[in-house]
Amino acid sequence: MIYVLGSINHDISIELERMPKKGETTLADGCHMGLGGKGANQAVAIAKLARKYDDGRKAVQLIGKVGNDTIGTELKAKLESYGVGVDYVGQANRTTGTSVVAITGKDNRIMTYGGANISISKSDVDEALMNAQSTDALLCQMEVPLYIVAYALAQARMRGMTTILNPAPAVELPEDMYYNVDVIVPNETETKRLTGINPKDWDLQLAAMKEFHRRGVRYVALTLGANGCAISDNGKLVSHIPARKVKVLDTTGAGDTFVGALALTYPHVGMYSFEEACIFATRAASFTVSRYGAAESIPTFDEVCELYNTTIDA
Ligand code: ATP
Ligand code: RIB
Repeated sequence: MIYVLGSINHDISIELERMPKKGETTLADGCHMGLGGKGANQAVAIAKLARKYDDGRKAVQLIGKVGNDTIGTELKAKLESYGVGVDYVGQANRTTGTSVVAITGKDNRIMTYGGANISISKSDVDEALMNAQSTDALLCQMEVPLYIVAYALAQARMRGMTTILNPAPAVELPEDMYYNVDVIVPNETETKRLTGINPKDWDLQLAAMKEFHRRGVRYVALTLGANGCAISDNGKLVSHIPARKVKVLDTTGAGDTFVGALALTYPHVGMYSFEEACIFATRAASFTVSRYGAAESIPTFDEVCELYNTTIDA
C-alpha cells in the first residue's frame, strides 16, 4: 500500500496566447476545470498506473482534506472513480483548495489557495498510518503544512516504511527532515531553492544530487522537464534519462505523474531497480504533457505501454 499525504485542489485552467501584463485583461482561448492538487494527482497516477498489479486491493490511500462544499464532495467522488482509496480523505469546514492555472504553450503558472488542505492534523496522520506496515510507502509533497509533512515522515520512518518526498512547491526544509526521506524527487526550481545549485548541466546536476546525499537521502531523481531526469543512487549509480519528444499541450501534472509512477514501481512493488522505475516514470510523465488537465491527463499503465510499444521491462 502507498499512502499519499497531500493536497486536493479544484483546478481552473485557462489557456492563453500569452500572460497578461500588469493591469491588463486578456481573452482566453480555452478553459478546463477538474481534479488537481499535487497529493490528488500523485494518488491518481498511482491508481491509474497500478491496474497492472490489481489484486482487488487498492494500491493507494490518500490522506487529505476537501472542503464541506459541493466541489469538495465532487472531487472526493472523482478520486474514488479513479480507484484512489479515500478512507482518510476528510471534509473540513473550509473552502476546498483551489488552483488557477494559466497555460501558455509549453509553460504554466499556478496560483494555489490551500483552503481545506491546511486543516490536516497530526491525528489524521496517526489514524491513517495506524495499520501501516514496513512494506508500505509514504509519499508527501509540500502543499500541506510543513510540520505535518515532517511529522508524517518521522512516523513512517519509525514504522520502517519507504518514504518519498516531492518537495513541491519549493520551501526551505529543516535539515533533520532529510534523514527521514529515502527518495527525493525535486524539479529544477526546487533543486535550486533547496541546494543553491542551478542544475542546468550534468556537472551541476551531479553536484546537486551529491548535496542531497550529504543531507541523508539515498535516492535522488531530479526532473528536468523536456530533458527528462538525472538520477543517483547514493552516487554509486548515476544516469541521465531522456524524455520522449511529444507535442506539448499542457505540462500541468507532469511532475506528479513522474512521482506517482516512481512511487508505484520502485519501493512498493520492489521488483524494479531505481533506474528502471525512473525510466517508466519519465515515459508516463511525457504522456501527461500531451493532454490537457491534471489528474485527467495522467495515463493508465496500458496507455504508457502502447505509446512506447513496450513494457516496463524493456
Ligand atoms: P509540472 O509542474 O509542469 O507538473 P514539474 O516542474 O514538477 O512539472 P518537470 O521536471 O517539468 O516537473 O517534468 C517532470 C517530467 O515530465 C520530466 O521528467 C519528463 O519526463 C516529463 N516532461 C515534462 N515536460 C516535458 C516535455 N516538454 N516533453 C516531454 N516530457 C516532459
Ligand atoms: O502539480 C500540479 C498541481 O499543482 C495542480 O494540479 C495544482 O492544483 C497545483 O497543486
